[in-house]
Amino acid sequence: MSTEMITLETPRRLRFEIFRFNPEDPSSEPHHQTFELDEQPFMTLYIALNRIREEQDPSLQFDFACRSAICGSCGMLVNGRPRLACNTLTRDLGETIRLEPLPVFKLIGDLSVDTGTWFRGMAEQVGGWIEEKAPFQAHAEEERMDADLAQAIYEGERCIECGCCIAGCGVANVNPDFVGAAGLNRIARFMRDPRDARSEDDWFEVVSDENGVFGCIGLMGCHDVCPKELPLLEQYAYLRRKMLGAAREEERT
Ligand code: SF4
Ligand code: SF4
Ligand code: FES
Repeated sequence: MSTEMITLETPRRLRFEIFRFNPEDPSSEPHHQTFELDEQPFMTLYIALNRIREEQDPSLQFDFACRSAICGSCGMLVNGRPRLACNTLTRDLGETIRLEPLPVFKLIGDLSVDTGTWFRGMAEQVGGWIEEKAPFQAHAEEERMDADLAQAIYEGERCIECGCCIAGCGVANVNPDFVGAAGLNRIARFMRDPRDARSEDDWFEVVSDENGVFGCIGLMGCHDVCPKELPLLEQYAYLRRKMLGAAREEERT
């Protein structure tokens, strides 16, 4: 029999400082509440929050659906930085973890925010859909698309609308009409699409002001926090090139 000793590490005792506030309750005051938990291997913030809710306080509000960085529901500030709770491991954080709701979006309660209303408003502001060149023909042959172009469009489609880039953007925090990185990404996605009927001049009208591409100051806070690592830098460069081209064209005419 082996005489080798098996040593088990004592789990860390994690301390969660969680923002609490219920805007629907007139007696509720914004504050941070502390909860403690023993860390488990591969514990994510999503698992930790569920344990706190199940074992310590069933009134704690936070959102999740997919648990795999797909639905975009669980964005929150983790030690001041926008992140997804479901793909953030506690082992990558210190023993004290401060959790707060994403700014910019309407607070529902505690860590839960309404990103849906903001994203719907942004989509309406930028016309985030295909404007067809001709009525849809169910029996027509499929239109072919260049593979590189299809890939570039797909990259824009990967956005899960988590809101991390909006919460991490200084401009979006002070200008509620700024479409933010998610909005600029969506515009670039539809501008590239050859099935869309809008001309560069049409797009110029939509995005060439301080609420669109020229409102962005380019410090790339959004790029650093996007959990899907979207090519936001490339999207801005594309939009700026297009918009400057359209502006020069307008000057010439
Ligand atoms: S580059 Fe800066 S200003 Fe522009 S969308 Fe990103 S975070 Fe906002
Ligand atoms: S661009 Fe990235 S950070 Fe912004 S909403 Fe989409 S997935 Fe989230
Ligand atoms: S629970 Fe869906 S992205 Fe985190």
